[in-house]
Amino acid sequence: MFKRISDSEVATMRLGLKGRFVVFVSAIIVAFGLVLTALSVRAQNERLRHELEDRGKLLTTVIAANTTDALAMLDVRDLRKTLSEARDQENVLDAVGFDEDGRVLTDGTLVNSRRHEQISEAELRHISGSSALLVEFEGDAMTVTKPVHLGSRMLGGVRLRYSLASLAEEQASLARRTATVGAVFALLGMIAAILLTEAVTRPLNEVIRATRALSQGEPAPRLPVRTTDEVGELAEAFNEMTRKLRDTTVSRDYLDRVLETMGECLVVTGPDGTITRVNRAVCSLSGVGEDELLGQNCRDLFRAPQGHVSLLDALGPDGSARGLETELLARGGEAVPVIVSVGTMEESAGRARSYVVVAADIGERLRHEQQKDEFVTMVHHEVRAPLTAVRGAIGLLDGGVVGELGKRGQELVEIALRNSERMERLVNDILVSRKLDSGRMEFHYEKVELMPLVEQAISATSAYAANYEVRFELSNGVAGATVRVDPDRMIQVLTNVLTNAVRFSAADDVVTVKASRHNDMLRVAISDKGPGISEDFRDHVFEAFARGEHDDWRHRSGTGLGMSISKGIIEELSGTISFETKLGEGTTFFVDIPEYA
Ligand SMILES: Nc1ncnc2c1ncn2[C@@H]1O[C@H](COP(=O)(O)OP(=O)(O)OP(=O)(O)O)[C@@H](O)[C@H]1O
Ligand SMILES: [Mg+2]
Repeated sequence: MFKRISDSEVATMRLGLKGRFVVFVSAIIVAFGLVLTALSVRAQNERLRHELEDRGKLLTTVIAANTTDALAMLDVRDLRKTLSEARDQENVLDAVGFDEDGRVLTDGTLVNSRRHEQISEAELRHISGSSALLVEFEGDAMTVTKPVHLGSRMLGGVRLRYSLASLAEEQASLARRTATVGAVFALLGMIAAILLTEAVTRPLNEVIRATRALSQGEPAPRLPVRTTDEVGELAEAFNEMTRKLRDTTVSRDYLDRVLETMGECLVVTGPDGTITRVNRAVCSLSGVGEDELLGQNCRDLFRAPQGHVSLLDALGPDGSARGLETELLARGGEAVPVIVSVGTMEESAGRARSYVVVAADIGERLRHEQQKDEFVTMVHHEVRAPLTAVRGAIGLLDGGVVGELGKRGQELVEIALRNSERMERLVNDILVSRKLDSGRMEFHYEKVELMPLVEQAISATSAYAANYEVRFELSNGVAGATVRVDPDRMIQVLTNVLTNAVRFSAADDVVTVKASRHNDMLRVAISDKGPGISEDFRDHVFEAFARGEHDDWRHRSGTGLGMSISKGIIEELSGTISFETKLGEGTTFFVDIPEYA
């Protein structure tokens, strides 16, 4: 679930992001500025130093040139004068002139306090070979030594010391200027960073606001997609996410409403049977509130089906169970009969396995069943027994036991006999049908040959067929084939089909009975040339008490139970019954039964 983010948290987040961004960008810009400044100061230093060096070299060279005569003639006065002039030049700290042995002759002053100094031999060697200058740096000073030659002979040389203080000053001012420029750069950088951050965080803030709205259950606004960059992509992704979320929420709400509306009870439990969800139907059937049911174990809500310790114990290897009859334990100790299906919802990411229990109240159905049973018992005792007595009495009348009846009397007795027979058939059918329905019909299985059963069914119907002037034609393609059935029930099915075929045949018609093998089954196909079954009625042929439009055809109506009973029996025998029909041409019923070797 969403964590509710407070206003101050959003503000901190925003500041944090902005602050970090500004610091980061400013640091980069300042570091960049510092590096640039350092490089530029270094370059400027080098330039100034070279300038000073060049100036020193030039002045020293000029002074050296002016001392050639004085050195050649060892005229110390002239040399002092020249050097004195040199000392007056800008940045010159002192100046000395020395002879070919490196002895200092004069330092340009009258005091000439440095006259005992000596140029080292190494330095002399360095400058004696050529007219090169010797430049040396020492602290804030630069010394330039220049030899003076006359032809190839070195007469001596001059050495001038320059102050580099101006260079340091120049450097300091340069550093100040550069620092100012750096500071301006840093400031501009920060402003740029703030603007940039603002540009980046504005759409982010919009996303934050929209997400907050969403987390608080408000409809999320659609974010404008202004650019095609990452920020635009973020807005687009957010819009897509909210759309999907809306769809999911809508479908979840829809599903919730469906589950709440359904009449069956829905119970979802955790792996240990703890109830995690119930719908309204459970509460109204059990009389217990949802709050009370949640957290209970489903053992306390459903009685364990027969032969099991709990409902969840009755699941098959595939983790499901269908049509379990048990009871829902309602408040006040009442037990409501229910039919239950259980399914296992396998573990998904982050969720443990759950069980989904759907229970339907079958109290009403059981009450109907009970009423039907009561009706059937009543039919059995109150109708069948007196009917048998009535038929017996009429049979006696018909047989002339009570004396000759007149022609009219005989006719009436025959009508009464036919109708009582019909009633007896109906009562028997109702009893059989009920037995089949409730699964109480007994079957005595035997391994028998199929063909004798077909023949017996034909002979049982032949008198009836003769009445209608209809003939049977039997063709046998499965001689010796055996089946495992209750022979009487099998004959009953075939008789039902044969009777129908006869009833819907015209006088002199032939009903063909063909035994063959079909799709691994033994098939008995019974065809008539009757009127066929209308399209509307085809789906109802096997329903109890269903009778088609041709039933008044030649006044041959039945009860409409025959086919329903036949289907019930044949399915119990692991077979099937089906038909093909064409209006005006006839109908073929197929009774298929597994061969039993
Ligand atoms: N061979 C057939 N030709 C035409 N219609 C048929 C044929 N067999 C069955 N039907 C139709 O199917 C209906 C249902 O048949 P079913 O055997 O269940 O009832 P029924 O024969 O009318 O009565 P019952 O067999 O109980 O005496 C019939 O009423 C009839 O409309
Ligand atoms: Mg019938």
